[in-house]
Amino acid sequence: MKKRILLGVISGLIAGAGLAGCSESSSGRKAAADPSSNTAGGGAEVSAHWPQLHSGIAKDPAVEARIDELLGKMSIEEKVGQMIQVEIRAATPDDVKQYHIGSILNGGGAFPYDNKHASVADWVALADAYYNASMDTSDGGVAIPMIWGTDAVHGHNNVIGATLFPHNIALGAAHNPELLREIGAATAAEVSATGIDWVFAPTLAVVRDDRWGRTYESYSEDPELVRDYGGKMVEGMQGAAGAEDLLQGKHVIATAKHYLADGGTLNGIDRGDAIISEEELVRLHAQGYFSAIESGVQTVMASFSSWNGEKMHGNKYLMTDVLKHRLGFDGFIVGDWAGHQFVNGCSNVSCPQSINAGLDMFMAPDPSWKELYKNTLAQAKSGEISPERLDDAVRRILRVKIRAGLFENGAPSARAFAADESLIGAPAHRAIARQAVRESLVLLKNNGNLLPLARNQRVLVAGDGADNIGKQSGGWSITWQGTGNQNSDFPGATSVYGGIAEVVQAAGGVAELSVDGSFEQKPDVAIVVFGEDPYAEMQGDVSHLDYKGEADLVLLQKLRAQNIPVVSLFITGRPLWVNPEINASDAFVTIWQPGTEGAGVADVIFRNAAGEVNHDFKGKLTFSWPNDAQPTLRNRGDSDAHAQFSYGYGLNYVDSVEVAALSEQSGLTATDGEQALAVFNGRALDPWSFQVTDAGNHHSVISSSVVKLQGISVQSVDRNVQEDSRRLQWNGEGNAIAGFFANSRTDLSSYLGNRGALVFDVKVDAAPSDAVNLGIYCGMDCGAEQSITELLKGAVPGEWKTVAVDLQCLADAGAKLDMVLSPFYVRTAGALDMTVHNIHIASNADADIRCG
Ligand code: BGC
Ligand code: BGC
Repeated sequence: MKKRILLGVISGLIAGAGLAGCSESSSGRKAAADPSSNTAGGGAEVSAHWPQLHSGIAKDPAVEARIDELLGKMSIEEKVGQMIQVEIRAATPDDVKQYHIGSILNGGGAFPYDNKHASVADWVALADAYYNASMDTSDGGVAIPMIWGTDAVHGHNNVIGATLFPHNIALGAAHNPELLREIGAATAAEVSATGIDWVFAPTLAVVRDDRWGRTYESYSEDPELVRDYGGKMVEGMQGAAGAEDLLQGKHVIATAKHYLADGGTLNGIDRGDAIISEEELVRLHAQGYFSAIESGVQTVMASFSSWNGEKMHGNKYLMTDVLKHRLGFDGFIVGDWAGHQFVNGCSNVSCPQSINAGLDMFMAPDPSWKELYKNTLAQAKSGEISPERLDDAVRRILRVKIRAGLFENGAPSARAFAADESLIGAPAHRAIARQAVRESLVLLKNNGNLLPLARNQRVLVAGDGADNIGKQSGGWSITWQGTGNQNSDFPGATSVYGGIAEVVQAAGGVAELSVDGSFEQKPDVAIVVFGEDPYAEMQGDVSHLDYKGEADLVLLQKLRAQNIPVVSLFITGRPLWVNPEINASDAFVTIWQPGTEGAGVADVIFRNAAGEVNHDFKGKLTFSWPNDAQPTLRNRGDSDAHAQFSYGYGLNYVDSVEVAALSEQSGLTATDGEQALAVFNGRALDPWSFQVTDAGNHHSVISSSVVKLQGISVQSVDRNVQEDSRRLQWNGEGNAIAGFFANSRTDLSSYLGNRGALVFDVKVDAAPSDAVNLGIYCGMDCGAEQSITELLKGAVPGEWKTVAVDLQCLADAGAKLDMVLSPFYVRTAGALDMTVHNIHIASNADADIRCG
């Protein structure tokens, strides 16, 4: 937990890198003397790039009157409680009652009573417990039903036995908006069976740099399809705006997330910074929100990311002036997983800035929510959060709750479909998922028309993805990262192999499962299922697009060498450079992450019993496929020079296209790990800049020679030549961090095998009064620290000393050295006066600090 909070602070620091003062000029919004701009609600002038929209759900005067009445009765404590969302692992029903909490969530991989195999009845019982607590007025006050939100991002994916649909990137390839509506409805039905009211989906990210670990949560790199899909998904989940059953029965509340430009961050860094103009923001990243709002989406989740250096959780212009006023959104904005803490000047437990900017509900998942509640209450009482803003936030939350019928529906267990186990993994839902699998497969190569295959053959099914439902489901599958699951965690599901075996055996053929590709009797054809292992946010970022599947390539080549025709089925959450694997295959199909209905694959790649095409391929890429592993931006409309397969590519059985041998030049240059790599030699070397996060969570890129911040001051000083060193003085007034950070990743992994070390000179003028850590950072929850307290305490005051820290220790402790964002930072909450000089990464070093 400590590590997470700390790395969170560092991440905020990175997002603010080098951008101070950019946001106004690049958006041009202050300058706009545009006649079609309007000024909404006394806020900033909204640029004419934004359309004037209206929510698909009209305001109802009776609902508004009811809200007025409730607001009139509520105490300030009750109002603040409505604005806090807590997590099931960190708050009890009793807490909900005592603090008048408005909402709960279960994060990815959080289950009732910490039981991964919780039953539907357990989910409903827990929902009842929180609901009853929220309605308990024995201490006085107003009964306001709590609302429970969950990440049902590809089906109700935290629940054992649920239908898991292909991830969004696959759905994009299907180009079928109507199917999206059906998936939304099926997901909502399964969610309502567990007594849950609200889903944190759809994700409307338009992902521009596929190194981002959430690429698979995006329908497309192009806004057109995201716009077509966004509204349909909302309609499927909530019901059609204006329809009788809107938000009733098997419908739930949807969330458009993550607002805004989560998919536009520089270098695809999770929670990073989208450095783009306002025109681009609207044209590329906002389109999905337009259709979602027109379909009446009731909640929007703020993004962790920044726009031109300003964290979305604190962006008044985009949350209030644009979203709520210009775009006519009258539901509420929820934060993302303590995302408010990254707003300048905020912390996990205090952020009036966020509420004042337009956030209506804090997502406060860890036990510190009580502090956040207390601080927010104090800020509401003191007027730091105005009574108008407080009432507006609560009004929006109540409006959504009333619209969803929560005041009338009674306890979750009393609702029409609650606890109906037959809805979880219902055959009708699985049929939709299987259709989605069929429609989303993209055929990249089919030389000699190897596909479709006859059924009655001897088929070898190889690869570690062949009979692996966890792997084929990807992240956000039962567990948060999708890791640690067995096939038995997916009752009712079918693996890719399972689907193949069914059709082959029914036709009298033989389907032999052999993960390593060995066999006794030579098969007629081999199907190899391989690809990325599951990952989710933070952990899924990569520094380049090489698949790196050496063992899989060897397997393909081995089979080919025995004259066995090879079909590759590639499991992936993003386009990756796989030219060697494609060359080693006769047919190559990207199956993305199909979810629980693996049989959809066999539906397409095998002929029917009569020997005819059963289902043809329909999938077309909605992400450009790379022609080398370099992280070049490749998006629809860009030059095709960097695309192996362009946006829209996808073969079918009607075309007869031969794919010639593809280039096997990855384009990556291996660093040899022999030469020292300088980080700081009097100035910060590219790509790094010298940055500080002070004790008040203010981030600064140090660009002048003397800077005084809260808890730390920084000064350029001379050792050998003018200003070749930096003096860092911590005064003990809170945790402050100083170091070298970049907005792009650097691969330092080649230093590992070469006795690599992080080397620097240091002079201590006042020994540390508290623990001091040296760290390497590679993204949210990615990094490692090493204590240097004793080393600094033992240093002779005023004397220079060279220190080398073994890189292997840091790698072993969790620093991913192939994707480093900060190769050197120091943090302490105590007092310390030290000066650093000549920081670099060296090989063949005798490390002073090894593991421990
Ligand atoms: C993710 C959201 C998710 C939330 C709750 C966050 O870390 O960014 O997409 O809805 O967690 O689990
Ligand atoms: C939690 C997940 C949550 C995620 C959001 C993780 O630490 O275990 O439940 O969804 O954080 O960032």
